[in-house]
Amino acid sequence: MFSRLFNRKKKDEDERPLQAMATPGNAWGFLGADMHSHFIPGIDDGAKTIEDSLTMVRAMKDMGYRTLITTPHVMVDFYPNTSQIINEGLKNVQDALVANNIDIKIKAAAEYYIDEYFIELLEKEPLLTIYNNEVLVEFSMLYEPPMLFEVLYKLLSKGYRPIVAHPERYIFFHNHLNKFSEMKDRGCLLQMNMLSVAGYYGGNIKAVANKLLSKNMYDYCGSDMHHEKHAAVLKAMVNTKDYHTFVNYPFLNSRLCI
Ligand SMILES: [Fe+2]
Repeated sequence: MFSRLFNRKKKDEDERPLQAMATPGNAWGFLGADMHSHFIPGIDDGAKTIEDSLTMVRAMKDMGYRTLITTPHVMVDFYPNTSQIINEGLKNVQDALVANNIDIKIKAAAEYYIDEYFIELLEKEPLLTIYNNEVLVEFSMLYEPPMLFEVLYKLLSKGYRPIVAHPERYIFFHNHLNKFSEMKDRGCLLQMNMLSVAGYYGGNIKAVANKLLSKNMYDYCGSDMHHEKHAAVLKAMVNTKDYHTFVNYPFLNSRLCI
């Protein structure tokens, strides 16, 4: 009886802040910042037009985000973006936000694809960073790049701290999660895709994301938003138990607020 009363009280205490946070307009406000998205129009597989950008940024603001760090792909074969292209695109988005009275902070970094070109780029010029020296990187989802760890170590030796984007999506590592422990032991950070936990990429990826969450492996949480449908998935997540998991998880996102 007493334990039931106690459990009931504990449950109410646990849920009170969640109810407050889950109100429309502030659902993801506890994160403060998002650090992975594709909001600059026409330069990757994200926003196609400035209207797409405005729609997505408005959706993020309506969900409570206050800072967005958008991260266009830098992938030589498909999206040969330079820092200059990205910064010019960012300026256009910022101007459009002002013109449309959408009050939110937005800056740009990049999602660098690890390949031979990236190794050259790393030698040539400074990379765009998410926070201090932290650089968002991704790699093939089909096979383990032979030089993957070598490149991660190279980044570290140059003073960068790699944030590995959506580790749960690399299927070839699903039975080798120790690879991610090795990355973290060396100083890399891991970024979870919220869409993975929502089941957007399938059950296996969701299961691996949950496993990494339960092991406290993630450092950042990102929307990886490419289009409006992704915003709808994030909105719907607020009514799931995954939302409770996120609220209680020590993500570092809030330190990115500008
Ligand atoms: Fe991405």
